[in-house]
Amino acid sequence: MKDPNDQSSLTGLELPPDEMRRLGYSIVDLLVDRWTNLRDGPAWQFSPRRELQPLLWGPPPEKGRDPDQVIGEVVGKILPMAGRIDHPRFFAFIPSSPTWPSVMGDFLATGFNVFQGTWLESAGPSQVELVVMDWFRQWLGFPEEGGGLLTSGGSAANLCALVAAREWAGNPENPVLYVSDQGHSSLERAARIVGISSENVRRIPTDPDFRLDVPQLREAIAIDRSRGLHPLCVCANAGATNTGAIDPLDSIAGLAKEEDLWFHIDGAYGGFALLVPGEKELFHGIEKADSVTLDPHKWLYQPYETGCLMVRDTQLLEAAFRILPEYLQDTALGSEHVNFADRGIQLTRGFRALKIWMSIQTLGLEAFREAIGTGIQHARAAERFIQESTHLEMMGPSSLGIVCFRFRISGADMLPEDLEEVNRGIQDEIVESGFAMMSSTRLRGEFSLRLSILNYRSLWSDVQETLEEVVRIGRRVWRKGGLG
Ligand SMILES: Cc1ncc(COP(=O)(O)O)c(C=O)c1O
Repeated sequence: MKDPNDQSSLTGLELPPDEMRRLGYSIVDLLVDRWTNLRDGPAWQFSPRRELQPLLWGPPPEKGRDPDQVIGEVVGKILPMAGRIDHPRFFAFIPSSPTWPSVMGDFLATGFNVFQGTWLESAGPSQVELVVMDWFRQWLGFPEEGGGLLTSGGSAANLCALVAAREWAGNPENPVLYVSDQGHSSLERAARIVGISSENVRRIPTDPDFRLDVPQLREAIAIDRSRGLHPLCVCANAGATNTGAIDPLDSIAGLAKEEDLWFHIDGAYGGFALLVPGEKELFHGIEKADSVTLDPHKWLYQPYETGCLMVRDTQLLEAAFRILPEYLQDTALGSEHVNFADRGIQLTRGFRALKIWMSIQTLGLEAFREAIGTGIQHARAAERFIQESTHLEMMGPSSLGIVCFRFRISGADMLPEDLEEVNRGIQDEIVESGFAMMSSTRLRGEFSLRLSILNYRSLWSDVQETLEEVVRIGRRVWRKGGLG
């Protein structure tokens, strides 16, 4: 009998089964060690190009190398020089912290080499994507005709939404897009791609809580109509990346209906918070949207790249994207057999639904609700901590898991430029120390520190110690700079 481990019977691109197992197990061991010791390492690692270039440059080898050496190089030189975004004190930008079942789901989907573009080529996986889309549909409160697809991320989902809006409106000339001044940059990029010029992207001002101002939206639409432009779509935030703000979705839905606009909600950052019973009310009106972007690789604890676009009428999405060339004629099995390639920009797609399905099946939805809810509670506790501190101040209300604040000594006379300098100094020092990772932003032109709390591993002590560190560094920078 043929020995499957006999190298001479294998092509140059194959490995003997025993070796495959050994390498695979060694990687699982590496990952589990990393996950177990995540808290002990720094929250951020970085290396400039000039240091990495000599380490990682050169032609591809003509002959293969020892796989253990290759893995050693990956683990020693490459992966340590990446943000540790799932570290419990990584509070920058929008963090991500996938669950273990979701990582296994990705591994399995890759190993089984699923092509998730047509039913013909992936019946079971397509059914699973339908199941997951139906869970999301129900969470949003969309009707039975609602559905969607998983995308590479929120940017791709926002793009698909604008394509659907444009096609639904009959591809009008001079289309106009309305977003709040807190809208995500991916919307503007999507507008460019679908042919909405930058001058036709209206940035509607927000109220003191950074929520889109509906009367100003109404006025902008009227002005555009009077100029002969075609108001096409309004995109609301749920919540905004900068501040976590959730726009008044129900009022915007009413106005969009009155004005015959496509109503899109960008829930890439905050959408899954509606799973938490006590927070659901914040999303009132989401069920009236024509489309909603969700990002499971954010607050549904999935690995990259897992975004999602949901629409209230799946037929509109398919009408916008479906094309059937001759060479795919065998894949047209009738509308019951969904070809996910008909709902978006990818023909070849990975089996993204598996990771979501496996992680919810394994861990249960309740654990997700609790983790999301805990993140929001930590943000509220951080807001109270800041309000009670004599060295910190809020830059706006906290919303969902986002807290914007700055170092400021109460009662001290601090000039705006000094405030910016000291807060920049804090930001730089925190990041460099690796104790925690934060990012800064600007709110109405003012420099702000920002915490984005999302990781299921983050404890209140992680947040509190980070705030205490901000105060400690701030006091030192303030004194050292001779500012105080
Ligand atoms: C509100 C919002 N929309 C869209 C995006 C873009 O999503 P992605 O990075 O998954 O493409 C983000 C990313 O942070 C976001 O926060």
